[in-house]
Amino acid sequence: MKPFKIIGMLSLVAVIALSCQRTPKVEMITISNHNGMSATFTNYGARITSLIVPASDGTFKDVVWGYDTVEEYYASSDLYCGPIVGRYGNRIGKGRFVLEGKEYFLTINDGENHLHGGSGGLSTKVWNMEKISDREVKMSILSPDGEEGYPGNVEITVYYTLNYDNSLDIKYEAVTDAPTIINLTSHAYFNLHGTSKYSTNSHILRINAAHFTPTDEGLIPTGEIASVGGTPLDFRVPTAIGERIDEVSFEPIAFAGGYDHNWVLDKEREFSLAAEVFEPSTGIVMQVWSDQPGLQFYSGNFMDGKDIGRGGDIHGYRTGIALETQNYPDAPNHPDFPSPVLRPGEVYKHLTRYSFSLNAF
Ligand code: GLA
Repeated sequence: MKPFKIIGMLSLVAVIALSCQRTPKVEMITISNHNGMSATFTNYGARITSLIVPASDGTFKDVVWGYDTVEEYYASSDLYCGPIVGRYGNRIGKGRFVLEGKEYFLTINDGENHLHGGSGGLSTKVWNMEKISDREVKMSILSPDGEEGYPGNVEITVYYTLNYDNSLDIKYEAVTDAPTIINLTSHAYFNLHGTSKYSTNSHILRINAAHFTPTDEGLIPTGEIASVGGTPLDFRVPTAIGERIDEVSFEPIAFAGGYDHNWVLDKEREFSLAAEVFEPSTGIVMQVWSDQPGLQFYSGNFMDGKDIGRGGDIHGYRTGIALETQNYPDAPNHPDFPSPVLRPGEVYKHLTRYSFSLNAF
């Protein structure tokens, strides 16, 4: 038999095998450590649904947004409440990119752009989920060639590990059978009050970044790497989120309606402290450590209070922040940005740590 016929048959077998994959049951799993910190996950979107950490008054607070039922996660999938987003987290201009001379078109789901892997992205899939120890959950999924327009069959694994020092590690790995692009991140919304009754504007934030990537009105980078110096995006000195959030005379704040920008982390790809947040009323401090080159800080500007979370908690305007460690938005269309390309034989690796303490900075 001619080689191309054998390859053709093997591809057909692979496609049939993929389409016959049984969708796993949607479940929840909780892990905890000896300090009373616990984290709950569902395999719908490989998402974190609850993260309970100690507060300074001796109580425990749930610092991530969640809902009471799995159905509510389905209904609000475009809010991206806690999932792993991808294959390309963040935006790709007009959903188009060229890789090795071939043009690809992705699903358009954010104005004229592609956002968080598209309307049927990884956050909407039911992943395989396994508790591999008392403190560790493994999620895995095979994203087939052509899904949402992306090339290559990509195998993705995400490990969530709760450490004894009250940190949560998210470790990502991916391999592909054809050249593709990838940018995975967690889209947890944090509120260190432990409830959305109070705005996240009171949180004090520090970001280890001297630069950011300015965008157009659709939040697509222009390609420029600009200094944060003298702008409301300068968080090198700890500052309350609400202090400059409405300074719309600064165009990037006007475009995003608050904060929704990519900070260019000073340490690029070295695993290091990217940002820290502190809520004075609960004493809770969260540090974000990562080996990714960028950090998207989104201050909840699209929240309108129509979404109701756990125990009736109203998800109002600016009551949750996302700190998404990742590559820069639209990197596939900017050769000067860090490369998002993954080729056969390579392994995409990403480690992010959300670390909790009561040590104000
Ligand atoms: C990201 C984006 C925001 C918004 C949220 C989801 O963080 O940067 O603009 O789309 O996701 O609401």
